[in-house]
Amino acid sequence: MLRINDLTKNYGSFTAVNHLTLHIPEGELFGFVGPNGAGKTTTIRIVCGLLKASGGTVQIGGSSATLGSKEMKKMIGYVPDFFGVYDNLKVKEYMDFYGSMYSMNSKEIARLSDDLLELVNLTDKKEFYVDTLSRGMKQRLCVARALLHNPQLLILDEPNSGLDPRARVEMKELLKNLHSMGKTIIISSHILSELSEMCSSIGIMDHGKLLTSGGIDTIMHGSMNEPTGGKRIHIRINAGMEVAVQMMKEYPHVVVESVRENEIIINYRGTDEEMSALIGRLIQNQVILTGFYPEEGSLESLFMNLTGGEA
Ligand SMILES: Nc1ncnc2c1ncn2[C@@H]1O[C@H](COP(=O)(O)OP(=O)(O)OP(=O)(O)O)[C@@H](O)[C@H]1O
Ligand SMILES: [Mg+2]
Repeated sequence: MLRINDLTKNYGSFTAVNHLTLHIPEGELFGFVGPNGAGKTTTIRIVCGLLKASGGTVQIGGSSATLGSKEMKKMIGYVPDFFGVYDNLKVKEYMDFYGSMYSMNSKEIARLSDDLLELVNLTDKKEFYVDTLSRGMKQRLCVARALLHNPQLLILDEPNSGLDPRARVEMKELLKNLHSMGKTIIISSHILSELSEMCSSIGIMDHGKLLTSGGIDTIMHGSMNEPTGGKRIHIRINAGMEVAVQMMKEYPHVVVESVRENEIIINYRGTDEEMSALIGRLIQNQVILTGFYPEEGSLESLFMNLTGGEA
């Protein structure tokens, strides 16, 4: 759906996007992650035709149309990182205004606008002035507006910034919903835990370069297995600590990383079956287990590793 090849953007001698190559297949919900100043907004604005690249190419939906052309703009719905000021414009009028920019007739706009306002849960705000909406509502209105011309690709630049936890959940549900309706979606964000629950794939960018990209499971799994090569497991023990430590030390596939008062942390490389057998043997030997917690590979730790702790 989106093919970015060798994209570069220079501001004078400063390189904001540095030979970026990124391919996003159709139907993905892609998370574009990176610290402040990584070059996410710059990349997005180039893709949307709002900023001219210094080098490289961008192709959307296999079309060879030039970026920023009418044909290209029809394919993209863009939700910018800042919501403009709209004095004296009601929600309904706001939708009409944007609809008319895509040369849709008023009947068509009215029907679509009703459907979209319902989708983003703003039907009861139709007659409200845009400026009186809460930030979360404005963000959802922006999504509705971006969908008016039925674009194949929806790009949202930090749609969650400034939203409270409830509004974030609502935004997440909305995006998941749109994804299940077949839209290809790109969302930029710093909030990694939210992306990991929602996205099908992610790319991590820093200093204008793409550090890694791929399916969320591959990337999460990769992060979990680095750098030790195994899975880290916390085992809580109420009684029989010494026996447990001794058994772990002798057990294949286990490396004891640390022993605390009631907890042993191991690095484990064996199968799940072998792990069950180990737990069984611990219990047979009168070790009282109170907890068993495999560490999840987190996007945060991956991000910190890749960006050298500059999150
Ligand atoms: N018009 C401009 N002139 C000069 N430098 C710019 C301009 N726009 C952006 N930059 C620089 O390009 C870099 C990338 O900025 P960009 O806004 O793309 O980052 P971002 O990843 O979106 O960051 P954030 O998470 O803070 O939104 C930054 O160092 C920024 O200062
Ligand atoms: Mg930005």
